[in-house]
Amino acid sequence: MTDFTDKIVIITGASTGIGRATAIAFARAGARVALAARSADALHQLADELGGPERAIAIPTDVSDSVRCGRLIDRTVAHFGGLDILVNNAGMVVSGMFEHLQPEDMERQYAVNFFGAVHCARAALPHLKASRGVILNISSVAGLIGTPTASAYSSSKAALNAWSRALWVELRPYGVGVVTVCPYFTSGVKLAEKGILREGSLHSTPRKPRRAPGTQTTEQVARAILKAAHRRPRIVVLSPVGKLVWLIDRLFPWLSDWIMARGLPRLR
Ligand SMILES: NC(=O)c1ccc[n+]([C@@H]2O[C@H](COP(=O)([O-])OP(=O)(O)OC[C@H]3O[C@@H](n4cnc5c(N)ncnc54)[C@H](OP(=O)(O)O)[C@@H]3O)[C@@H](O)[C@H]2O)c1
Repeated sequence: MTDFTDKIVIITGASTGIGRATAIAFARAGARVALAARSADALHQLADELGGPERAIAIPTDVSDSVRCGRLIDRTVAHFGGLDILVNNAGMVVSGMFEHLQPEDMERQYAVNFFGAVHCARAALPHLKASRGVILNISSVAGLIGTPTASAYSSSKAALNAWSRALWVELRPYGVGVVTVCPYFTSGVKLAEKGILREGSLHSTPRKPRRAPGTQTTEQVARAILKAAHRRPRIVVLSPVGKLVWLIDRLFPWLSDWIMARGLPRLR
């Protein structure tokens, strides 16, 4: 595993799922980690497991609030003395057919998935320029294609992708890396549990959804995030099936749309 000894890392959405696995992986690789999310108890417990204040601190934060994001960065820098890596991982899902989504559903989706990353990056930038550090924006394969029944989620991740790619170019002269990471389906996460599910949501159909081929574990995704923090590519698309989905959509958009449309009648 790549060595991150004494690198200072902030991970948003670190209370569960991919963020939690990523925090554990960075800590095992020698990094000092600041853990952010809204669930204070889960963060404090994880910080204790990772070695306490010398190695890990919990900073409860709602990333949709720009002031709280500023405090997250300030408290991390005050505690550890700098910042090398920002992992913008916090996310939630709004799911359902577009006609059933409320305006506030769309706004909440963007407030967390897109503006959460923007607020944290803005506050972190001076410190990342000083350390020639890296931002990892955890997006989704859903942001590379238009995903029916998840138009809010998919478009919020597409916005994240475009912003992230623009930053890659802007910050390159300063030695700051910006990586867009697009996981495919990931097992053992609570994304739908805490999401906003409207009519037509695949997550709320009575049938238990089958595990999609190409699904990865949170640990596999975490390993890919650490590798990306080290190598700093523009974009990383995870899972062989995720890569195939992306390729089909670029080469044969009509085929991609046909495959997705086949899933829709089963909802009604
Ligand atoms: N699961 C998948 O199949 C999949 C696929 C592609 C991409 N992703 C992306 O991977 C990232 C991690 O998701 P996950 O799959 O690990 O799901 P998860 O287990 O639900 O984790 C989401 C994390 O984000 C935090 N969060 C949600 N709203 C927040 C807010 N307003 N402020 C701060 N933290 C907030 C949650 O903590 P609190 O509730 O404690 O705040 C939690 O720690 C997300 O960006 C997601 O879009 C997931």
